[in-house]
Amino acid sequence: MANPFVYGSSVTGDDFVDRDEELANIERELRSGISVILYSHRRMGKTSLMCELARRKPKGLVFAFIDLYGVTSTERLLEQIVSKSAVACLGGVERFAMSAWSLFRSTRLRLAVTPEGELAVDFVRGGPTVAETADALDMPERLASSKGKRLVVVFDEFQEVSVLGGVSLLKTMRSRFQHHRNVSYVFSGSKVHLLRQIFEEHEGAFYKSGVSVDLGPIGVEPFSEFIVRKFRLEGGKISKDLARALVQRTGGHPYYTQQLAHELWSISNAPSGTLELDEAMERAMEHQALAYLYVWESMKSPVQKRLLLALASEPEPTMGVDFILRHRLLSRSHVQRAEGHLVERGLIERGHVVDPMFAAWLRRMSGLTLPSTRKNG
Ligand SMILES: Nc1ncnc2c1ncn2[C@@H]1O[C@H](COP(=O)(O)OP(=O)(O)OP(=O)(O)O)[C@@H](O)[C@H]1O
Ligand SMILES: [Mg+2]
Repeated sequence: MANPFVYGSSVTGDDFVDRDEELANIERELRSGISVILYSHRRMGKTSLMCELARRKPKGLVFAFIDLYGVTSTERLLEQIVSKSAVACLGGVERFAMSAWSLFRSTRLRLAVTPEGELAVDFVRGGPTVAETADALDMPERLASSKGKRLVVVFDEFQEVSVLGGVSLLKTMRSRFQHHRNVSYVFSGSKVHLLRQIFEEHEGAFYKSGVSVDLGPIGVEPFSEFIVRKFRLEGGKISKDLARALVQRTGGHPYYTQQLAHELWSISNAPSGTLELDEAMERAMEHQALAYLYVWESMKSPVQKRLLLALASEPEPTMGVDFILRHRLLSRSHVQRAEGHLVERGLIERGHVVDPMFAAWLRRMSGLTLPSTRKNG
């Protein structure tokens, strides 16, 4: 019997839970030409959400996915924008050659085909010229309008653009994209504070250029129903209560819920109670332990460490005077400084440790227990 719980790669179809509201909202905005900024912390399901939307093939929309983590230079970014948009609008390179040559002839882009049969762009030596950059950035619009389709270009881990080309590349992108009438963009990323700088701060390069969708955890009910169904489909059995308890442990965090369910299934396909769940939790945490230890050891400031432990140890922390005294955090300004660093590293957000498994690891490492479990949606 195969383990029915998948974690690590993006999930769609039968492995995808809920998010109906988010899918409908995003589709509506994209259809009306509005760009979407998709925020979430690591592994909350951004890539899965966009892949699932594309899999459902919403009528009249075609999708081009560009994962910035795999892109190492501005040239490659521009090339991906051109080639992925071409494939989305026209199909593979063979079909492309017939229909698109004239489209490109009027630009300053020189196209080539790689030995793997993919479309490539040869930019002038020493980096793309201003004209080449503009033409490449406008290619999605040309392709979409020539085909009468609405093209959705999804940039995954969009904040990495600023690593490639700084603010000036971001500004150039915005200056071209804002004239596109047949393309909608999705800017998705997990470094939330960097995305906020780009999209929400006045001087940010993409200030107010789309609607934001903040992806949170998945609700206890849909996730526990999914777990019960998956156990049953693979010939196992789990009670609704135990499935609920599992989702409560992870706070509905998609990755950790699938991981914990995966571990529980591998312990027993008919678990009877919390003993097995505790064991599964141990195993799941064990997988992350090295990464957590690395994060912990890389923190040089004792106040940052104490603040992190303090936030992990309290269900609803309020960072007032009591809190500062109780956790030996020296002073309000020390706390503010430490908080700033931890937010920047993506470890905390709005006074909570972002990663629930990391919070559990911190509590275990320091022998702390949580007075009562935080409620989750
Ligand atoms: N809607 C969902 N239903 C069920 N499981 C999900 C869902 N979304 C995400 N997951 C689980 O979470 C894992 C991570 O999802 P995904 O890679 O889409 O997240 P992400 O936000 O893109 O992560 P990253 O920050 O690493 O890019 C998946 O492998 C899957 O186990
Ligand atoms: Mg992702």
